[in-house]
Amino acid sequence: MLHDPNRVYVFDTTLRDGEQVPGCQLTTPEKIEIAKELELLGVDIIEAGFPVSSPGDFNSVVEISKAVKEPTVCALTRANKGDIDAAIESLKYAKRPRIHTGIGSSDMHIKHKFNSTREEILERAVEAVKYAKRAVEDIEFYAEDAGRADVEYLAKMVEAVISAGATVVNIPDTNGYCLPDQYGSKIRFLKENVKNIDKAIISVHCHNDLGLATANSIAGLQNGARQIEGTINGIGERAGNTSIEEVVMILKTHQTLGLHTNIDSKRFYELSQMIRTQMRMPVQPNKAIVGANAFAHSSGIHQDGFLKMRENYEIIRPEDVGFPSATIVLTARSGRHALKFHLERLGFNLNKEELAEAYNSFLTLADAKLDINDDDLLSLVAHKLVKN
Ligand code: KIV
Ligand code: ZN
Repeated sequence: MLHDPNRVYVFDTTLRDGEQVPGCQLTTPEKIEIAKELELLGVDIIEAGFPVSSPGDFNSVVEISKAVKEPTVCALTRANKGDIDAAIESLKYAKRPRIHTGIGSSDMHIKHKFNSTREEILERAVEAVKYAKRAVEDIEFYAEDAGRADVEYLAKMVEAVISAGATVVNIPDTNGYCLPDQYGSKIRFLKENVKNIDKAIISVHCHNDLGLATANSIAGLQNGARQIEGTINGIGERAGNTSIEEVVMILKTHQTLGLHTNIDSKRFYELSQMIRTQMRMPVQPNKAIVGANAFAHSSGIHQDGFLKMRENYEIIRPEDVGFPSATIVLTARSGRHALKFHLERLGFNLNKEELAEAYNSFLTLADAKLDINDDDLLSLVAHKLVKN
């Protein structure tokens, strides 16, 4: 079958990079439940854990491998035989196993983490890929801290690991350092200068230290990457990873990019809530796509425009991400149009004068009370009807 050049593979690492967050640890049954939901969402690859790190993580990779059918199940390793052996063993029930091995690629990591040289690190990278390839066909190589790596050296490393058998090359911006054009150019450079790049898929794995993880991932895709790595709700080390829901909805919203995924976006909200609860990690209300306020309109100007035509202030339909519905929140910043909308919803059709009067009472109430609910509105109108 011919490979679709515009298809973007989605690699979910909620259960690995996401689960590394203090306080977010999950039991194996909880991980299985999430993995099954990720399968229904349509992710292509589930990174199920780092098997050598603990017996619990090893067991989770085994059980997730048994529990899901469609997605590739991936296990993380460092570039050493012990890690790779553990990963191979943990993946023995996976229908589509993948080993994700790698090593630092920036001079910072080479000198100050590995106390090594570029040449030695290159050798270790190649050895790790060859060692893993004996047992598993699908090998993803990560060049850790690629965001800060010298691009010529990175290209050499990528070429060498592809020759050794890597099927996917992951170019992580481990520290969330890059600007979108820097990261995009790095991916473009690899695409244009690595001789055997057509033998592998380039993957983007961005962290959010400067709030640029999603922008950098998109820049990577625009420059030739075809796999994106991230987590639901953007959870992950420090400021988190790229939010899968953001990247997918950007690709859907900007059809001109010409890229698509296999994701059923209607499942995003429910899964986001599940991750929030199970991982005990709240979602900020203004979080794009899945935050409580993502489809809440609260200022008078926006509410008026939204009620005239929702597209005035809505670029994504809430139902497209499984969000219950858009809301018109009543606050002291709301206008008459919003009040009229809510009163009509409750069955009250007021004329212009009645509405003006109700609006004045509403403003007094809204200044005194932050949260205006249906009971408040009813008392507002009931009071007026008694007066009449
Ligand atoms: O951020 C990173 O570099 C990673 C690798 C282990 C892929 O998570
Ligand atoms: Zn990471």
